[in-house]
Amino acid sequence: MTVTRASAPRAAQAATQAISAAGLRKSYGDKVVLDGIDLSVPQGTVFSLLGPNGAGKTTAVKILSTLITADVGELSVGGHDLAADPQAVRAAIGVTGQFSAVDGLITGEENMLLMADLHHLSRREGRRVAAELLERFDLVEAAKKPAAGYSGGMKRRLDIAMTLVGGPRIIFLDEPTTGLDPRSRHTMWGIVRELVADGVTVFLTTQYLEEADELADRIAVLHDGKIAAEGSAEELKRIVPGGHVKLRFTDPDGYRSAASALRDAARDDEALALRIPSDGSQRELRSILDWLDSAGIEADELTVHTPDLDDVFFALTESAAAPARNNQPKEAVR
Ligand SMILES: Nc1ncnc2c1ncn2[C@@H]1O[C@H](COP(=O)(O)OP(=O)(O)O)[C@@H](O)[C@H]1O
Ligand SMILES: [Mg+2]
Repeated sequence: MTVTRASAPRAAQAATQAISAAGLRKSYGDKVVLDGIDLSVPQGTVFSLLGPNGAGKTTAVKILSTLITADVGELSVGGHDLAADPQAVRAAIGVTGQFSAVDGLITGEENMLLMADLHHLSRREGRRVAAELLERFDLVEAAKKPAAGYSGGMKRRLDIAMTLVGGPRIIFLDEPTTGLDPRSRHTMWGIVRELVADGVTVFLTTQYLEEADELADRIAVLHDGKIAAEGSAEELKRIVPGGHVKLRFTDPDGYRSAASALRDAARDDEALALRIPSDGSQRELRSILDWLDSAGIEADELTVHTPDLDDVFFALTESAAAPARNNQPKEAVR
């Protein structure tokens, strides 16, 4: 589903991908965790790898950020081949792991200065960058206190601030909001949006469909070691059954004549409503409207129902044994 312009030269195309993986495989013993994964993330976009606990999200992040090696796969990050030049990859990226890198025994500011040292910033430059990031992440008041006393949301903000000390253009965020309260989660979403506004590429893993829907330009659903589906939130929503147009009538006679004209529609006689299967696309809506007009049907209310990402997730990951939610066939993206 990736759109590529045929006219663009190959090298230019590759250069616009901040992250790309082809045929990525990783096993632990005889447990296959990643079973041949392809992904590409254009510069300056948010890519979300979505999957439940144990799906292999952290494994993918660790591989792409050079912490562990893949068994097989052609991988490139920031224009550098992972196998040939891991040092260059490390210089281009920042990683905020699922488990915090914050040292609780020292203050937030000391954690920041430690990162500045690791990035070989001068003492003066380190202080400047630390102060700027502490301010940006609303940690000025807490900066002189031991990080052990920080709330979950503050620790997560400090973690990201530490990741940004080196000015990375590509950032991996592994489940940045897991365990956060709703307010801290929204703060984190704001931070991700700001990063993207600055042109940073974000690779984000999450278990939350809502989060991927909010933030990501593209979403890949990881299931059984494979990408079960990939696309924009809208594209993913369109592939699952459940989308429909609902027509409601107030006049029983109008309802009955519409129901006999629209034989394929599902009837709800009590609500005087008809459901017409639809992907919610403009094209389908137009043809439904044209058709209603030509049949002389005028509903009192017309609403479009698109499935949400939860529907997508269930449709893609439930085994075939699970009861179908309606009788439309399931489609796979790839
Ligand atoms: N170092 C390891 N040794 C053996 N198995 C591992 C190791 N790391 C992860 N796994 C297994 O790989 C699978 C995927 O783990 P992980 O990538 O952490 O998933 P997620 O981040 O999506 O929750 C799990 O079954 C996990 O138990
Ligand atoms: Mg994980």
